[in-house]
Amino acid sequence: MKFFIDTANLNEIREAHDLGVLDGVTTNPSLMAKEGITGKDNILKHYKDICNIVDNNVSAEVIATDFAGMIREGEELAEIDEKIVVKIPMIKDGIKAIKYFSEKGIRTNCTLVFSAGQALLAAKAGASYVSPFIGRLDDVATDGLDLIEQIVTIYQNYGYETEILAASVRHPMHIVKCAELGADVMTGPLSAILALLKHPLTDVGLEKFLADYRKGNA
Ligand code: E4P
Repeated sequence: MKFFIDTANLNEIREAHDLGVLDGVTTNPSLMAKEGITGKDNILKHYKDICNIVDNNVSAEVIATDFAGMIREGEELAEIDEKIVVKIPMIKDGIKAIKYFSEKGIRTNCTLVFSAGQALLAAKAGASYVSPFIGRLDDVATDGLDLIEQIVTIYQNYGYETEILAASVRHPMHIVKCAELGADVMTGPLSAILALLKHPLTDVGLEKFLADYRKGNA
């Protein structure tokens, strides 16, 4: 399973990268705004800064919602660095743009996916990644993990190569369950990834090992 971090915060991206388990970064316009990154030049530079930290897979989202605009923005984003994956919303022109980019060999991440039908369309258009937002489904009393299970089945039935990127991950059990279900990638906050580390028996066990060592080596 690939681990992506869902943030535009360079310090968090560095911390996750230094852990040695980071495979990529996802951003969105809200995350960029949260970091105070505004204006085209600053936004493009920020994506480059992220690319300079991580090894691959930096999702950068288009703002346009029409086909021509998405192509223009997507090509500009793809030129920043070969690590860029152009993130495109699940709308009609978005599907057309994904098809266009897949034929040009530019990787895409189809975002804002909330149903199996949308995921099927994204795969048919040739998206590199599809992003079902599981946390936001949970927020409206619909089990986001059920959607992951459905997409895994559908993609296996037809051998689609689109990778399932479980997005809007909120906590460590989302990650564990997505791994059980066979999601290819997860993206979430650094806190959810770091929470995987924790178990009280690990802490108690380590304390005991070290105390026993100190007794014998005082
Ligand atoms: C995915 O790429 C999105 O950026 C993200 O996972 C949305 O998560 P949220 O629902 O926590 O905002």
